Amino acid sequence: MSDRSANAPTLPPEIARRRTFAIISHPDAGKTTLTEKFLLYGGAIQMAGQVRAKGEARRTRSDFMKMEQDRGISVSASAMSFDFDGYRFNLVDTPGHSDFSEDTYRTLTAVDAAVMVIDGAKGVESQTRKLFEVCRLRDLPILTFCNKMDRESRDTFEIIDEIQENLAIDVTPASWPIGQGREFVGSYDLINDRLDLMERADRNKVAQSIAIAGLDDPKLADHVPAHLLEQLCEEVEMARGLLPALDPQAVLDGTMTPIWFGSAINSFGVRDLMAGIARLGPQPQPQRATPRQIGPEEGKVAGFVFKVQANMDPKHRDRVAFLRLASGHFTRGMKLTHVRSKKAMTVSAPVLFLAADRELAEEAWAGDIIGIPNHGQLRIGDTLTEGEALRVTGIPSFAPELLNSVRALDPMKAKHLDKALMQFAEEGAAKVFKPMIGSGFIVGVVGALQFEVLASRIELEYGLPVRFEGSQFTSARWVTGPKDKLARFVEGNKGHIAHDNDGDVVYLTRLQWDIDRIERDHPDLTLSATKEMM
Ligand code: G4P
Repeated sequence: MSDRSANAPTLPPEIARRRTFAIISHPDAGKTTLTEKFLLYGGAIQMAGQVRAKGEARRTRSDFMKMEQDRGISVSASAMSFDFDGYRFNLVDTPGHSDFSEDTYRTLTAVDAAVMVIDGAKGVESQTRKLFEVCRLRDLPILTFCNKMDRESRDTFEIIDEIQENLAIDVTPASWPIGQGREFVGSYDLINDRLDLMERADRNKVAQSIAIAGLDDPKLADHVPAHLLEQLCEEVEMARGLLPALDPQAVLDGTMTPIWFGSAINSFGVRDLMAGIARLGPQPQPQRATPRQIGPEEGKVAGFVFKVQANMDPKHRDRVAFLRLASGHFTRGMKLTHVRSKKAMTVSAPVLFLAADRELAEEAWAGDIIGIPNHGQLRIGDTLTEGEALRVTGIPSFAPELLNSVRALDPMKAKHLDKALMQFAEEGAAKVFKPMIGSGFIVGVVGALQFEVLASRIELEYGLPVRFEGSQFTSARWVTGPKDKLARFVEGNKGHIAHDNDGDVVYLTRLQWDIDRIERDHPDLTLSATKEMM
């Protein structure tokens, strides 16, 4: 896809100043800490410590589930808006746990850029690599923050080399660290020729940055110990010789990533990164759709649902659909067309997420994310427009990697189980298949932890204790093809056929061999591990 446009001055200023992005990282690299500092400098929170639960507790399973249950935290963190330097930032949260990669994938369809956080001592870790690959599929621009520079970290060239080699992307240093670990004093801002010193005394304070007339400026010696200054000059000279210079277009194309070195916990480097997102990050981008792409500059409103969060308030079965505006200027009370059902929908209580608070959104522009409370009409992949039958594409659903059957412990309540499962299927939290033969459902997920979360949510939200049990099947594939051929196939394979919550045909098996055989024997049918959500 190369429909990515340069940041041209032709967009309405309200849209041009929007930066919608996600943070990708391996657990523990510092995503939460960085998010919190963003909100702090974006004026969305007054004090660090409001967003995150304590580290150890947060990472235990029980606490993770409690957090899932305590819908407040994860919901307010799903999309947050704040202002910085005249720009409006929309930060969309990606679930950290690797079990939720499908949700993460969809989230990344709603952003225009990603900030990649790596730990300076650990470099590129497995989860970072996976998420990076997803960004790469969409040519998303990536800005890199190398965190924890206040600790012993790897050699700067080594880190940069590792990113270049591992992720096959050009890396250009936006700043250069001075010293490391205990000796870390700050960084030299290579874009603006400034010296930034880290304030060790107060973690939330940012020391004034100092304008410097290049590396020969004698002023540097007033602030940087001689041996570190010598090292800095040597390294920067080498870096300028060896590494590519900043090319803003290459950053927008996703082929080059600028890297900042900092320490989120000490608030160091965070503002430079934010300024980088503002200056180098993309404006709202065109959205792929059929029958035509949607441009952010279009006057009419169009948007798509990339996430649905249900039962935020267990007393009311409400749901919030997260809508990314692809074009236009939305105002509260607007009547939009729900393209899938062709029905009109008045959006009267949209919400914007400002850190821990939700607020009614009086207006929103292309690039923004709004939450729309609804009773189940809105599903992942849905498009809303001012009337035109456009459908946003590229929001996939993946075949689950783990299949279990599920049973209500109280058989009298089996009906409620149907309802609960349908809701989770529509929310995108699980795949739910109804086998043609036999009773009950087969539930599919990407990671085992999701079964635990589901069981706990079904009990909490529907008062229904359930048990997940191993199923005779281990793989699922969607089957498509000419109607008559598909019907014949279904008829002849009833024991392996199920329907998903959209009524689409799914083939279940425990043997890859079966899948290969069907592909060979039924050339007119397609067995697919992904399905477009619509
Ligand atoms: P995550 O969301 O990516 O999982 O990471 P998170 O921000 O929770 O940070 C993981 C740990 O790294 C936390 O420590 C956090 O305090 C620490 N950390 C974040 N940024 C920096 C940094 O710039 N320098 C240093 N030295 N540490 C940093 P924890 O002990 O696990 O949690 P807590 O007890 O501090 O809350």
